[in-house]
Amino acid sequence: MTISTQDTILVVGAGIMGAGIAQVAAQAGHPVLLVDARPDAAIAAKEQLTKTLETLVAKGKMSATAAAEAIACIEPIPSLAFASAARVAIEAIVEKLDAKRALFADLEAHLAADVILATNTSSISVTAIANGMRHPERLVGMHFFNPVPLMRLVEVVSGLQTSPDIADAIFELSRAWRKVPVHAKSTPGFIVNRIARPYYAETLALLQERAATPEILDACLRAAGFKMGPCELMDLIGHDTNFSVTQSVFEANFYDKRFVPSLVQRDLVDGGLLGRKTGRGFYVYPRQADLAQKDSAALDLLAPKRVVVHGNSPTAHALAQRVAPVLTGFGLTLERNPQSAWTGIEVDVARLALTDGRAAHELARDFGIGDVAVFDRTLNTGISVSAAMLAYAINRESSPSWQAQAAAWLAALGFAPQLVEDTPGLVVARTVAMLVNEAADAVQQGVCTSEGADIAMKLGVNYPAGPFEWLAGWDASGVIAVIEALDATYRGERYRVSPWLRRHA
Ligand code: NAI
Repeated sequence: MTISTQDTILVVGAGIMGAGIAQVAAQAGHPVLLVDARPDAAIAAKEQLTKTLETLVAKGKMSATAAAEAIACIEPIPSLAFASAARVAIEAIVEKLDAKRALFADLEAHLAADVILATNTSSISVTAIANGMRHPERLVGMHFFNPVPLMRLVEVVSGLQTSPDIADAIFELSRAWRKVPVHAKSTPGFIVNRIARPYYAETLALLQERAATPEILDACLRAAGFKMGPCELMDLIGHDTNFSVTQSVFEANFYDKRFVPSLVQRDLVDGGLLGRKTGRGFYVYPRQADLAQKDSAALDLLAPKRVVVHGNSPTAHALAQRVAPVLTGFGLTLERNPQSAWTGIEVDVARLALTDGRAAHELARDFGIGDVAVFDRTLNTGISVSAAMLAYAINRESSPSWQAQAAAWLAALGFAPQLVEDTPGLVVARTVAMLVNEAADAVQQGVCTSEGADIAMKLGVNYPAGPFEWLAGWDASGVIAVIEALDATYRGERYRVSPWLRRHA
């Protein structure tokens, strides 16, 4: 079953998404029919698109011929009665189950029985939309991301009755439109909206317990490679939209505590502080100056007598490389203890440990010493980003001198240390462990493959790497340790380790 550029594409709904889909189909050379329930909305969408393409031509990003050809491909039609030429119909109307079911009944009445039907729904079950159709096997999800012309990911979503041939045909069509399609099973949130939940949820949980400010949380996650921190990203998306996606995933999962929405975010929604679009969310817009990096030189290192780097992980090796030159200044040579069960630096009797999930006070108890600090993961070898914000926490029973020295050591190693409350898994380790866990569960449940999850998260939400790529640079037992430490602290159903991760540990 192949769809060629001669085949007519019908797009129903000429809003933000429908107009974008029509543009992409037209630029690929298909005749495109565009229809909307609002009179003249399709005509207005074509006029708007003409202006957009003219701007691209003026900027030299598109040839005048290509723009004219694409525009000529789009024909606004007043109703489905004019849609009989369609070979594929893509629905992008309101996000309401009843409206979508009624539309597909109409489409089946107006179009031939072999026309492929696709829905751009972002949250409704494809299986549920197909219920009541005469040919439910020909309905498939074709989930584009906003803005459609720029975002390359398409989730090709199969419901219980979707024919694999139909899903494959839409997969190939997406490719022909220069998109990167990924197969997904119709489950709440599909791939991206589900796996991304912890990115917001862990930060909201940290904010609720006042572990750090939005500025610090954003800076730490940006330093780990994310283009935007969770708070600024939620401000951009709009708290109403972000909250409603979380709520719909929560409800669709029978109120699984894993997905429970946050009071912190509901307050913002209730207060109308929706983010950039209302001028205020976590931040006030236009945004004030960002968190200033502290002057690392201000933190003086006291001369140590003995320094040992513990552990045998890539992080331990990277730490050793950074510690050695610092020690030359004090006339010391570095000692190594690769057999240690923990990774980090021992400075005389104090310890600065990479988080394994345990909070600093728990490590202090387990080590049997008071002067303990714990620092966060970064995402490559564990510590390759220089001068990057790095969260750390101090055991409250530490001596005042170690409280200052822990930060001084992190600064000497090239980080901008950010003190946060002593919570398990700090910021990056906790967030990434939960993202990996959610992705592992999605794979376990057959929602997507691990490769599909990586592609989807990199292209759908611009993550610097996919969850399984992070896992490859960490290890399943390390991820499990962080989640179990969170569970040990918070108790409940939220921090449940995926069976997939346990099998791969
Ligand atoms: P929109 O509100 O901009 O556009 C919807 C259009 O559909 C409107 O022009 C409306 O008049 C028309 N419409 C409503 N009922 C209709 C009917 N029965 N027949 C014909 N036209 C009808 O909405 P948007 O943002 O374009 O969303 C459309 C769909 O795409 C929704 O299912 C949404 O969940 C999904 N989606 C939205 C994304 C986004 O970021 N906005 C991202 C991915 C999917």
